[in-house]
Amino acid sequence: MDDNRRLAITFGVVTMSDKGSRGEREDTSGAYLQDALAGKGYRLAHYSVIPDKKDVIIKTLTSLVDDEKLSLIVTTGGTGVAPTDVTPEAMVEILDKEIPGIAELMRLESLKKTVHAALSRGKAGIRKETLIINLPGSLKAVRENLDAVIDVLDHAIEKIQGDEGDCGKL
Ligand code: MTE
Repeated sequence: MDDNRRLAITFGVVTMSDKGSRGEREDTSGAYLQDALAGKGYRLAHYSVIPDKKDVIIKTLTSLVDDEKLSLIVTTGGTGVAPTDVTPEAMVEILDKEIPGIAELMRLESLKKTVHAALSRGKAGIRKETLIINLPGSLKAVRENLDAVIDVLDHAIEKIQGDEGDCGKL
């Protein structure tokens, strides 16, 4: 994919954190994601830190898709097994299609680093023409999970946006 096409890919970073949304925790994971995806050549169009509340997550993500029409949204946090972790439950309500392979790839690679990767229930999927991917919350987990899928993003986004090119040429 050439540089101009990458710049046309708008992305948003949404951090799910009760403490972060109250300004009680520095969001190093969200900052890392912004830098890493901008470094890939995509255009940052949104960043927010929101509480771990299902209705707030649903409202935020649907607006970024339906109103802002972002190409890619990456979330961090709220994927685990604590009572407050509801990111996957919000995803189920807003996705048109899941892409299980992206979540599987993240867990496959993450399990090589820590058995605790089994505790992330993060999902990936499509709403309209937007790819949405959930990453866990810690900076270490964000680095490792993004590394696992970063090379899939160009082609996934092209296909989601209707590219009819021949996959066999890749
Ligand atoms: N994946 C990787 N690659 N590296 C990690 O350190 N941490 C795990 C897991 N996935 C981790 C990881 C831990 S400890 C938890 S509890 C879950 O992600 C869920 O994290 P979250 O609730 O912050 O989303």
